[in-house]
Amino acid sequence: MKPPFPRAQPPVGHLGRWGREPLQLLEEGAALGPVFGLRLWRSAIVGYSPDWNRFVLGNLDLFRSRGSMSGLSPHLAAGLVQTEAPEHRQRRAELNPAFARQPIEALAPRIGEVVRRGLPVGDFDAVSWSSGIVREILCATFFSGAFPQSMLADFLRPLDAPLPVPFLRRPLLFRRMNRALERALPAAPDDCLGVAFRDLPGGVDEIRVALSAGYDTTAHTLAWLLHHVASDPELFAHDRAAVVNEVLRLYPAGWLGSRRAAEDTSFDDIDIPRGTLVLYSPYLTHRDPALWWEPTAFRPERFADPIPAWGFVPFAAGERTCLGSSFARLVLRTVLDAFADGRLSAVGGDPRPKAGITLAPSGPLNLRRAE
Ligand code: HEM
Repeated sequence: MKPPFPRAQPPVGHLGRWGREPLQLLEEGAALGPVFGLRLWRSAIVGYSPDWNRFVLGNLDLFRSRGSMSGLSPHLAAGLVQTEAPEHRQRRAELNPAFARQPIEALAPRIGEVVRRGLPVGDFDAVSWSSGIVREILCATFFSGAFPQSMLADFLRPLDAPLPVPFLRRPLLFRRMNRALERALPAAPDDCLGVAFRDLPGGVDEIRVALSAGYDTTAHTLAWLLHHVASDPELFAHDRAAVVNEVLRLYPAGWLGSRRAAEDTSFDDIDIPRGTLVLYSPYLTHRDPALWWEPTAFRPERFADPIPAWGFVPFAAGERTCLGSSFARLVLRTVLDAFADGRLSAVGGDPRPKAGITLAPSGPLNLRRAE
């Protein structure tokens, strides 16, 4: 059986709307049923139920990364993101220990120091402040600061630009970045995350991908977090882990994940031919009224209830779950704690989500930290 399709424009199918308004297109598809089709540059099928998430994320042999959307971004087109089963499991086994919760927690004092040093005073835009502080935190934790901050900023800058800029190939920039990493990695002190990549075959590609995957995702989440606590300072008195979860639920930076079907398969009688782009969407899952009451309202208290299995997937799930989830959570919590001194207020801005490579606020988020 074929899935339902949202309204399309011949001859381009859904490509035009995908470029202009992907979130609206996804929401329109979701209203047709839990699995729907899109006509993009190749046929795509999208689902968002917990069963779909388990189906897609639980089978690395059937659903492959290579040839999916992640390959479109040069920053992500290498390393773990493009490594398939069975090699993927081995690579994760090499990297997971350094990124597990306990060793990551040991970085808390260093992250706290960077944040305290960088706290803004007066008016600031949470999006650009968050991007800057995340770059500094990456430099401090991956290299103990022994990496040129300006090189890191140059390398990551294309990720801050609107589409299609992040899709452009930049061979010279990548060569400069690789050379800087080749110089820095052998000297990486033992107490930094760079060590995990130092003796890894392909470690330069791998660390480049980790820095890219960890940058705008964490920065945008942080900007929304600051916007919400500035708009409602009582949230500081709330369970802060729940506040962070609520931000991750409403604004999952990884709003869409993609795979390619390696074989013909099916889900609930819907045919999925080999080669189909198979998409899951944390954005749709997290706003599904069947899973979350008042799904568009900011209500951290909802996390006092049990979380639906495979229904809260800001970091995906399964074997390809985000390598940096503990790191990202630590950064978010540390920054939140540092702003809890009663001086933060909201001035204005546009927090509506806009979908690019990651989900981002539509406009600046203007905040004030009193002198
Ligand atoms: C709030 C911040 C973050 C969010 C929301 C996020 C989200 C995600 C998601 C949804 C995926 C799965 C993508 C897919 O396969 O479909 C992923 C994978 C990944 N993330 Fe994150 N991420 C965040 C921060 C980070 C950080 C800080 C790092 C590195 C330090 C990182 C490194 C990675 C890597 C390397 C992968 C690929 C894992 C694999 O394929 O095995 N991420 N992330």
